[in-house]
Amino acid sequence: MIKIAVLVSGSGSNLQALIDANLSGQIVGVISNKPEAYALQRAKTAGIETAVIEHKQYPSREAFDDVMHQKLLDWNVDLVVLAGFMRILSARFVEAWQGKMVNIHPSLLPYYKGMHTHQRVLNTGDVLHGCTVHYVTAELDAGQALTQAVLKVKADDTVDSLANRVHELEHLIYPQAVEWICNGTIQHTPQGVLFRKKTMNEPIQFCKF
Ligand code: GRF
Repeated sequence: MIKIAVLVSGSGSNLQALIDANLSGQIVGVISNKPEAYALQRAKTAGIETAVIEHKQYPSREAFDDVMHQKLLDWNVDLVVLAGFMRILSARFVEAWQGKMVNIHPSLLPYYKGMHTHQRVLNTGDVLHGCTVHYVTAELDAGQALTQAVLKVKADDTVDSLANRVHELEHLIYPQAVEWICNGTIQHTPQGVLFRKKTMNEPIQFCKF
């Protein structure tokens, strides 16, 4: 059974969706860089081990990442799931977990990497928006996309309304993508990412129109 660690910094609604999904993998631990993160309560309620590793207590990004890395090794983790983890990871850490670490990003990647995605979608006047689950690579928000959920932007949408609707979609596709990794439907191989043993060039898309 695949052992999963979830890295969080905030509310942890995606963590909750993963817990509620009854994955065929096991969430063995949750790490937060913030002691006040509500996600830690969610983990405790679900009987999952937690660790607080405060980035402020370490002299460098690398030193902080090394402590996280060791914790993940202690837990024998196979898959690292970033769920609202608000720290940029060092190249060394990303390299160590290459092909074993996924993230969810609130935009239709490759569009709108980085922050403030909902505002940028509204500024541009885009018709479509959504979220993407992707493997994590050294380049920010640029690893292979696994799943995407797409919604239509409404004329009266605001940053908050978009954020809420994208969040709902995140809770659908993140557990699905993680389950596909757990049960071998998605495989990360030296030849590339496979979906049902075939090369996966495009993410599996879900549309909510
Ligand atoms: C989500 O919007 C996700 O896309 C981004 O961080 C947020 C986490 O929300 N990476 P939550 O803590 O899971 O509620």
